[in-house]
Amino acid sequence: MANRRTVIAGNWKMFKTVNEAEDYAVRFLEEVKDVTELDIILCAPFTALYPLKNELEESVVHLGAQNMSWADQGAYTGEISAQMLLDVACTYVILGHSERRELFGETDEEINKKVQKALAAGLTPILCVGENLNVREEGKAVERVRAQVTHALSGLSTEDLSRMVIAYEPIWAIGTGKTASSQDAQDMCAAIRANLTELMGPTAEKVSILYGGSVKAENIAELLTEPDVDGALVGGASLDPLSFAKLIHNAGSVVTRMEGR
Ligand code: PGA
Repeated sequence: MANRRTVIAGNWKMFKTVNEAEDYAVRFLEEVKDVTELDIILCAPFTALYPLKNELEESVVHLGAQNMSWADQGAYTGEISAQMLLDVACTYVILGHSERRELFGETDEEINKKVQKALAAGLTPILCVGENLNVREEGKAVERVRAQVTHALSGLSTEDLSRMVIAYEPIWAIGTGKTASSQDAQDMCAAIRANLTELMGPTAEKVSILYGGSVKAENIAELLTEPDVDGALVGGASLDPLSFAKLIHNAGSVVTRMEGR
């Protein structure tokens, strides 16, 4: 965490009905309504976005989706466009999550098209990258993540990059309870930033790079003290409003301390 805005994003994945989402929003907002030292994002399933738009209006919590199409509109059964997300007040969209890559076969090429579309529409992409256990054990984690980043950014300008968030999520740490050590998280976030610098120059210093994978209220503070870890993408620990709020307050304390306030 350096001179960059800290971002804590919750990824609900395929959890929560409309009623559950509304109930969550009320309880969560009560806890975090005064948090201004970092950016809070809730990435909800498509069906919960519209009700959340109403609940979160004019609050400190930003709304995000978990995927979107690279197409504008048309005969794409089952897809959701950037315009539809804007329509329900989304400002962020997760793209290239490892579950999309591994379970639904999303390729680097498709992810690049989605990133371009999101930026053109004025949405902030949260681009996810990360290696699986085999790749890590073969010592090829940095190489894999660099390839994912390089593909995803193909054709983008430095101005585009300045409007993105990147999340490093090692697949072996997602939903497993096995967090990467804060040193592992730092090493890869620094490697990503070095890659961004090679590709785009000093704009790399402005990009918030998050860590994701079994982040909890108990380990967020240690992760955030690393210089290149600018926040977290949180799955399981974002599902309960009170414990996610606790995680956010723990993160906020680190931000306040490091800013010397
Ligand atoms: P987790 O998920 O926090 O449950 O490990 C993170 C993610 O997949 O974004």
